[in-house]
Amino acid sequence: MVTPQPVDTKLTQSALFLVMTLNDAPTVRTQVLDLLGDISSLVRGVGFRIPDGKLSCITGIGSNAWDLLFGAPRPKELHPFQEINGVHHAPSTPGDLLFHIRATRMDLCFELATALTSRLEGAAKVVDEVHGFKYFDARDLLGFVDGTENPTGQAAFAATVIGDEDPAFTGGSYVIVQKYLHDLKKWDAIPTEVQEHIIGRKKVSDIELPEAAKPSYAHNVLTNIEENGQQLQIVRDNMPFGEVGKGEFGTYFIGYARSPARTEQMLQNMFIGKPPGNYDRILDVSTAVTGSLFFIPTSEFLDDAPN
Ligand code: HEM
Repeated sequence: MVTPQPVDTKLTQSALFLVMTLNDAPTVRTQVLDLLGDISSLVRGVGFRIPDGKLSCITGIGSNAWDLLFGAPRPKELHPFQEINGVHHAPSTPGDLLFHIRATRMDLCFELATALTSRLEGAAKVVDEVHGFKYFDARDLLGFVDGTENPTGQAAFAATVIGDEDPAFTGGSYVIVQKYLHDLKKWDAIPTEVQEHIIGRKKVSDIELPEAAKPSYAHNVLTNIEENGQQLQIVRDNMPFGEVGKGEFGTYFIGYARSPARTEQMLQNMFIGKPPGNYDRILDVSTAVTGSLFFIPTSEFLDDAPN
């Protein structure tokens, strides 16, 4: 039996994103495998205390970490995130493990993150930690509703879960994460109607602009990709985050897909442009400061991690 990790969890109020790198201590492999086998039990232990809290955790494994932890066979499309040098730059930053923790309350996320990281003491360090919150009616800090066109139900499953294309890893998934920082002063100076052209939707009502009214560089034109006339979808669960004292306003992008090539194609369209030069204007006010790619094994694979 294969059970995908709960990639398609309904959008929650809180999320905590932890990206960790492994060090070269001799105990690393045992320590990490030991933890992977216990994650479902830790989620039950922490989550059971708040039954309505909907605590979930998705665990991702980076390309280098895969070789250290599991060796062959490898998921066919697992590789480090490829940086993009286009009109704008998408950097590739280190990441061996990803924990995407979601719940209706931050205390649950925080408790689980504490339990996970304490088990990895001496073996891994947190290189990026973002505490995301839902902002009003699921808006990003640019003020637009974010997540509307996500596939749901069967379509979300079909978009994210590996099938026969990689039989050894059926039920798995891939994820790309990127942390974006926004220049809100610059964004707020752009008239609302122009912002709506950049996103391709109305700001207040969230209604999609008619096709004829969308510029070719609208975000929802560049990220709408097809193969043989079929739309290739991904599942996103972006979260706003920030620190007012630092003047930091961000969007944590997270996109799950059965093949990372889908998300990579969207990124090419955004950063290089389609055709080249016709890039995503969100990037004039938003800078990608991280970028990592992970494989998401099935729940059974994690539970049975050899330890
Ligand atoms: C749609 C915001 C980055 C892929 C949207 C929408 C907003 C938005 C407001 C419209 C509502 C919706 O359907 O969700 C942002 C922001 C980003 C960001 C603020 C970062 C600063 C990305 C990236 C990708 C992506 C990096 C993929 C690599 C998509 C897709 C859609 C979408 C596939 C749906 C398009 C459609 O079919 O209508 N995004 N996004 N976004 N975004 Fe993004």
